[in-house]
Amino acid sequence: MKNSYLAHGKVILMGEHAVVYGYDALALPLKSLQIRTTVERAAEMWMATAKYHGPFWAAPAEYDGLKYVVRTMLTKAASQQPLKFTYRGQIPTKRGLGSSASVALATTRVLNDYFKLGLTEAEVIAITNQAETINHGQASGLDAATVNSDHLIFFNQKRGPVALQAELKASLLIMDTGELGSTKEAVALVHQQLEQSPAAASKLATLGQLATETKTAWLKQDQQGVGHNFNRAQAILTSLDLSTAKIAELQKIALSHGALGFKLSGSGLGGIVIALCKDQVLARRIATACQSLVTNSWIEEI
Ligand code: PMV
Repeated sequence: MKNSYLAHGKVILMGEHAVVYGYDALALPLKSLQIRTTVERAAEMWMATAKYHGPFWAAPAEYDGLKYVVRTMLTKAASQQPLKFTYRGQIPTKRGLGSSASVALATTRVLNDYFKLGLTEAEVIAITNQAETINHGQASGLDAATVNSDHLIFFNQKRGPVALQAELKASLLIMDTGELGSTKEAVALVHQQLEQSPAAASKLATLGQLATETKTAWLKQDQQGVGHNFNRAQAILTSLDLSTAKIAELQKIALSHGALGFKLSGSGLGGIVIALCKDQVLARRIATACQSLVTNSWIEEI
């Protein structure tokens, strides 16, 4: 018997970091980037990914979230049966594209089906988010909610996810800096600043407020407003030391070519950046201008 599940990635539009402290955030599922998780019976517990092939429990620490999921599900199933887990897909890791949340969700779902556990949606999401907490140090629940959604997600920790079906009618250029971000490190860096300075708290409050305002602008199809908020968020994220020299260079190129707004996306310290463009022609032009600095780019119609 074999079970498999295809889960997609995500991109955070606004509110990263602020969302950890209870503020609003906005994130978009990326259905074009997916990972398929397969589980099947095996002679020993085994993991097969693009980067690691070997005994499941001996996998490196970056897979600790997945180990938590599997341990939890095997306990629920009261099973000692050795299983092989295979992960195949195109979501690059450590870029803020949701790879860790997507494999945690898919692993929970395949084991729920494999063992016919009948877990509720809320239980599946809680296990996924606990894996994300292990991966990030502190996880808001935003990534888990967005990789589990087909629509734009407006989120805060108290209210949970609200799916929005509205279109902005613009193009979003997503570029991979190729610099590997560490969510854990970035979340800890913000936490440290919060402990040391009251200014950091007000920066996070503003980032959250910008997410709330961006949702309103989005619903009015106010592309200029959304772009302006991207730029304001980028200035704050930079002042929190979450940007890099390469990101600053990409920002310059994108804005000088006419992007409506530009920001890093996800935890920062590398990873991906997003540029809001009025249409696909402009998005392609900016992608070409940034080509030598990035390892990959994607355009989403939003
Ligand atoms: O690095 P990413 O894209 O997985 O984003 C993490 C987003 C944070 O707000 C920094 C953390 C969180 O759990 O929401």
